[in-house]
Amino acid sequence: MTSIEQLPTPCLVVEERLLQANLDRMASQLSALGVPLRPHFKTCKNIDMLRRSLEGQPGGVTVSTLAEADACARAGINDILYAVGIAPGKLPAVCERVRAGISLKIVLDHPDTATAVAQYARREDLALDVLLEIDADGERAGLPPGHPDLLKAAAILAEGGCRVTGVMVHAGGSYRCRDIDCLKRVAEQERVAATTAAARLGAQGHSISVVSVGSTPTALFAQGLEGVTEVRAGVYMFQDLVMAGLGVCRVEDIALSVLAEVIGHRRGRGEVVIDAGWTALSRDRGTADQPLDQGYGMVCDLEGRPVDNVIVRSTNQEHGIVTGRDGAPLEPVDWPIGRRLRILPNHACATAACHAGYHLIRTADSSAQWLPRCQPQLLAGNRVEPGQAQGVMP
Ligand SMILES: Cc1ncc(COP(=O)(O)O)c(C=O)c1O
Repeated sequence: MTSIEQLPTPCLVVEERLLQANLDRMASQLSALGVPLRPHFKTCKNIDMLRRSLEGQPGGVTVSTLAEADACARAGINDILYAVGIAPGKLPAVCERVRAGISLKIVLDHPDTATAVAQYARREDLALDVLLEIDADGERAGLPPGHPDLLKAAAILAEGGCRVTGVMVHAGGSYRCRDIDCLKRVAEQERVAATTAAARLGAQGHSISVVSVGSTPTALFAQGLEGVTEVRAGVYMFQDLVMAGLGVCRVEDIALSVLAEVIGHRRGRGEVVIDAGWTALSRDRGTADQPLDQGYGMVCDLEGRPVDNVIVRSTNQEHGIVTGRDGAPLEPVDWPIGRRLRILPNHACATAACHAGYHLIRTADSSAQWLPRCQPQLLAGNRVEPGQAQGVMP
């Protein structure tokens, strides 16, 4: 039985108790609102965790890469929304997966993409399921719900034999909120954008069955989801310092941390050096423009309790520099060489992406279980073969 004292550093640690509490919180929020969850695989990229998040849910998932889609399909998870605007160059790979029996839905937000999809689908004699991406707040991608291109893109797809089955909105503006009222307002804005676009498409004769919204902040702070058929969220599984800074969770709720060890002292500067640099913590500085800047992560003791006002101030590739938040010097005697620390991440998705997998610290006996993340790229041999879509992980 491996314990946290024996794990090689730097590595990713997940507290099972906190993971489960975060999953339960989202499940009960959405069940109170009467809408199912389509968890986003992009955060955890581990099938065991994804399965936990699917408990009590219909079973559909969201992915941000085709490699994630393949990992889900190999695990028998077949209802997959690929929630990044489709690149025309990926259409052969999409069609290959649809032919293999995967229920893969794609998204787009431009009539020219619709033309590329319609032409390719017609040539391949394949009816693709397409969701139109809607923009609620000008943050990233999508068409405004009232834009004429929405109906234009839908008409092109339908003429090309594709099914326009729904709309998808991701309210990235929620990450800029500074108070709970803003989170509630953005959640409602997201809902209105989605349902408005769905109604316009429905009025044009498209059979809209999917009205998909979501981000962790809007999912957890939506007051009502009338007209919405599913909610997507990913970072809620782990939570992180950005979410804590927004008031979406408490620091104590963060399930993910990087285990690191003290490897030196910067004498005369009151700074401590650890063996976790940006390759372990990521370059993400998501709290930099929040009221409380957490540097490259908040420092906790081995039990996960925050050490008062101590953060990772800067990083090199393999080194992290730990200092007092207010510049107060750290005493070497409190930070002996070999002391183990846990660093809470700014952005769980970015930090997790630096690692091959997690050590899940089990609640029952504190032992650590290794949970791998799926391959980040499509690799030769990582493809789903026809008939394999319902299979299990090799
Ligand atoms: C399309 C889409 N849906 C859902 C999510 C999940 O949001 P969060 O990471 O806040 O849980 C994301 C995250 O980027 C996304 O891009």
